[in-house]
Amino acid sequence: METIKINRVKVLKGEISPPGDKSISHRAIILGAIASGKSRVSNFCPGDDALRTVEAFRALGINIIESGEKEFEIGGKGLYGLQEPANIIDAGNSGTTTRLLAGLLAGQKFFSVITGDASLRSRPMKRVTEPLRMMGAQIDGRRGGDFAPLSIRGGELKPISYHTPVPSAQVKSAILLAGLYSSGMTEVIEPIPSRDHTERMLKTLGARIETNGARVRIEGGAKLEPFSLSIPGDISSAAFFMVGGTIVPKSEIIIRQVGINPLRTGVIEVLQKMGADLKIMELKEEGGEKQADIVVKSAELKGIEISGEIIPRVIDELPILAVAASQAEGTTIIRDAKELRVKETDRIKAMVEGLRQMGVEAEELEDGMVITGPKKLQGARIFSYGDHRIAMSFIIAGLVASGETIIEDTASIATSFPDFVKLLASLAS
Ligand code: S3P
Repeated sequence: METIKINRVKVLKGEISPPGDKSISHRAIILGAIASGKSRVSNFCPGDDALRTVEAFRALGINIIESGEKEFEIGGKGLYGLQEPANIIDAGNSGTTTRLLAGLLAGQKFFSVITGDASLRSRPMKRVTEPLRMMGAQIDGRRGGDFAPLSIRGGELKPISYHTPVPSAQVKSAILLAGLYSSGMTEVIEPIPSRDHTERMLKTLGARIETNGARVRIEGGAKLEPFSLSIPGDISSAAFFMVGGTIVPKSEIIIRQVGINPLRTGVIEVLQKMGADLKIMELKEEGGEKQADIVVKSAELKGIEISGEIIPRVIDELPILAVAASQAEGTTIIRDAKELRVKETDRIKAMVEGLRQMGVEAEELEDGMVITGPKKLQGARIFSYGDHRIAMSFIIAGLVASGETIIEDTASIATSFPDFVKLLASLAS
């Protein structure tokens, strides 16, 4: 099992470019594959998750060429050009690959099976299989269709109007992709709006799709235009440097070309509310997505409550925000985040356990955690449960801990950010 050892650093200084956005990378391949013609993407996320989507579409008969470093050409074949895969599709650790693909495959008149690693096979899938069955797809899976492997035999679908029980961009996107194959208007209504990369990209490519608050409607049968897209840096990967630059004294980091889609920037809002010194220098907009350089300088933090409507906009950053909370004056309460329990691991349990091992006063809530700071962290041996964001969060914690911190089971970092340790080392002294 891979481990990483971290020691306290004096300062983090310099500039970095985080990897391309993982959510947008998946969508670029999926929509490029069903667009009518050749699309190009650059700054593609080099993590294993996004590459699983590339492999899945190759298995579905799409010609995808790596035309340069982190650049792909996708030979889109239109809505009806995918072919029956000869084997099971292995999505690895990637929930996004599995759930979005399930939606797309629900509209295909062939048989396919998707599976993944042990973590993926323990994550809930009924949230997609149920609405896709309502649309008329034949989908099965372990325990009544709640767990992968999922088998799918799709075809012509019926439009539905569906209220998702949890805000989830994966569920919403699966239904919208299936909606492309339905005869009429498919509607998804979320309790709180989740990230909208699928909607933005579909709109740019010419689909008839409209958003009204937490309600999205899509009409079936669009012809999608091929595109050329430079993917913005992943704000979820940038978040580790926002917190690192904040909690390591006298630091200053410039994080280049970060995607600042308003449904992803909860981490900036939360950190600023905690007292962080973050400056956002807006740059440009591409493919309907804004990018900015972010300058972070160290600052003293204070504890706050993180709950309610902001949660879907900060869901992937809550582990690293828990590390920030351990260095903040007072109590931080995270609530309404039960979804953390069904991510790559139970992130509430993993964060509270690891923070306690480093000497922090931390407590689990059913739907969040309570962390009281500031605490001088002690180096410890931390188990990451094979979850990339838990591993990277504790690497950042290790930068301000006394003694050595050893993070176990760190191979997962490569699912989203293979160069994380290298980039961090380039800033540290
Ligand atoms: C993602 C949506 C979110 C997020 C995940 C990526 C996406 O998951 O946590 O990392 O790309 O659509 P949910 O849809 O389960 O909330």
